[in-house]
Amino acid sequence: MAARCVVTLLMVFLLFTETSVAVTYMSKLIHRFSDEAKSFWVSRKGNVSWPKQRNVEFFRLLLSGDLNRQRMKIGSQNQLLVPSEGSETFSYGNELGWLHYTWIDIGTPNVSFLVALDAGSSLLWVPCDCIQCAPLSSYHYMLDRDLSEYSPSVSSTSKRLSCSRQLCDLHANCKSLKEPCPYIVNYSSANTSSSGFLFEDQLHLASVGEHAPQSSVQASVVIGCGRKQSGSYLDGDAAPDGLMGLGLGDISVPSMLAKAGLVPNSFSICFHENYSGRILFGDQGLATQQSTSFLPYNGKYITYLVEVKSYCVGSSCLKQTGFQALVDSGTSFTYLPSEIYEKVVLEFDNRVNATSFGIEGFPYCYEASSPELLNIPHMELVFAMNQSFIITNPMFQLPNYQGVTVYCLGIHPTYEELGIIGQNLMTGYRMVFDRENLKLGWSHSNCQDTSDKKRVHLTPPPDDISPNPLPTNEQQSTPSPHAIAPAVAVRAPSKHSASMPLLIPSQLSMVSLLLPLMTLCAGQLI
Ligand SMILES: *[C@@H]1O[C@H](CO)[C@@H](O)[C@H](O)[C@H]1NC(C)=O
Ligand SMILES: *[C@@H]1O[C@H](CO)[C@@H](O)[C@H](O)[C@H]1NC(C)=O
Ligand SMILES: *[C@@H]1O[C@H](CO)[C@@H](O)[C@H](O)[C@H]1NC(C)=O
Ligand SMILES: *[C@@H]1O[C@H](CO)[C@@H](O)[C@H](O)[C@H]1NC(C)=O
Ligand SMILES: *[C@@H]1O[C@H](CO)[C@@H](O)[C@H](O)[C@H]1NC(C)=O
Ligand SMILES: *[C@@H]1O[C@H](CO)[C@@H](O)[C@H](O)[C@H]1NC(C)=O
Ligand SMILES: *[C@@H]1O[C@H](CO)[C@@H](O)[C@H](O)[C@H]1NC(C)=O
Repeated sequence: MAARCVVTLLMVFLLFTETSVAVTYMSKLIHRFSDEAKSFWVSRKGNVSWPKQRNVEFFRLLLSGDLNRQRMKIGSQNQLLVPSEGSETFSYGNELGWLHYTWIDIGTPNVSFLVALDAGSSLLWVPCDCIQCAPLSSYHYMLDRDLSEYSPSVSSTSKRLSCSRQLCDLHANCKSLKEPCPYIVNYSSANTSSSGFLFEDQLHLASVGEHAPQSSVQASVVIGCGRKQSGSYLDGDAAPDGLMGLGLGDISVPSMLAKAGLVPNSFSICFHENYSGRILFGDQGLATQQSTSFLPYNGKYITYLVEVKSYCVGSSCLKQTGFQALVDSGTSFTYLPSEIYEKVVLEFDNRVNATSFGIEGFPYCYEASSPELLNIPHMELVFAMNQSFIITNPMFQLPNYQGVTVYCLGIHPTYEELGIIGQNLMTGYRMVFDRENLKLGWSHSNCQDTSDKKRVHLTPPPDDISPNPLPTNEQQSTPSPHAIAPAVAVRAPSKHSASMPLLIPSQLSMVSLLLPLMTLCAGQLI
């Protein structure tokens, strides 16, 4: 207890360093059956390598004590906040890079944006006073409404964030402290970036507290006025209408909501197999959920890193299968350090009642008319304190691969020390990113709406482990792409350097605009 307080206090005083970061993070997901994915996997031969980490010393965490005090004053312990248009999240599959999105409303009068949800970065930016933005017309994305552009001068509640403000990481670039604060975020995919100026404006939310009627809540947040996008964000492959970073940086929406005392410093996301889902700000999950502590990386809590003690297949946990992993909602498959992967797939393959063969970088695929015939073994990650994360569905289905139905394992090796717990493992769980207590929580969920003031409905914990974690027959028989698990996570390497040439000269410090996830885990999958 005491130790944690000290740690927390210390972290509050972590300072920026001048040498800095150009962190880049991007997770672009493409459909795994697309030509793009095939050529990728063929070229990659399943080898994943990540840039080495460096320059990760720039994150400060919020002061938990303050938050607790503020929350007690406001009495909002049970309050959850959701975007004013609702907690629902959407995936549009390949149309929009396989990312998950939600609608948010900003400003006065309010304007709606369909923002990509990215736990790997921290800045919320939207297309704004566009010099160079992705197409915004609905037909371009087969959406039912046009996407919008933000214009701070039209919003009566917008305020420029000046260079003098602590949140202005690029203050070194300002000629005077009164100038508007510039930002540039380089994401790691193919020259992808967003740049412009920082503003403060109202984010429209709705409270869904258990005892309070639903009411609207306005929160002042920092918004990147994204005047110029490049790469995937310019082409409209992903995030054409902006991106909401959910990382640990002070500038992220979860951080600002917590700092304002509106909700606990926590949020949850839940992805359903049908590509809908939920995001809830302030959600600390259920008392009965499983959980594990986030780990510091090089002494700092900068990203959602956890430690798996062992990997269990069937009834036994394999020896020496502990590893550290990033919990990344933006990666669609799961990656294990290669030596662990070898042990796991050997055991897995031994137990499956079929002979494996490889398809384009997925070495463990099995033909079966029905998944039951495969006898897919139970698999589970065990964390400290005997907390367990049951892998409900490690397989994905190719309904018609050369005329037969094939099931492939959605777990891959990585040649770096950190694994990634990707979206495929999270699906079906309410994943709680409890930043206040620095822990990850999870419980089975079907991602039902909580705005009816009920708890998220939980399916019973699988005491009785089904030997068949595959989708139901009904789901399997659906031919639509939505019936199958998504995406090859495509990540590109990032270059970490201090220069940010797009808008701004070099030697800039870019602190906490982004969670430097890519410094830890960038896979170069493009
Ligand atoms: C994968 O890449 C790493 C680093 O690039 C290399 O050392 C290793 O030999 C590669 N493994 C395979 C199987 O190609
Ligand atoms: C957004 O503006 C519309 C009118 O343009 C209004 O009906 C709606 O209530 C506003 N939403 C919020 C969350 O303020
Ligand atoms: C990124 O930009 C550089 C310079 O503009 C270009 O040479 C390179 O091909 C681009 N990379 C990709 C993947 O588009
Ligand atoms: C940021 O992106 C620009 C444009 O693609 C690129 O030229 C530059 O090298 C990137 N900067 C960093 C620090 O990665
Ligand atoms: C997805 O499933 C959930 C839970 O069964 C359901 O509430 C929701 O309406 C479904 N969404 C879609 C788009 O089918
Ligand atoms: C194993 O597979 C064969 C052929 O698909 C099937 O006949 C048999 O019932 C399966 N065994 C089990 C235990 O599922
Ligand atoms: C961990 O949990 C399993 C079942 O969930 C149980 O069999 C085992 O005894 C527990 N181990 C410890 C050390 O509590």
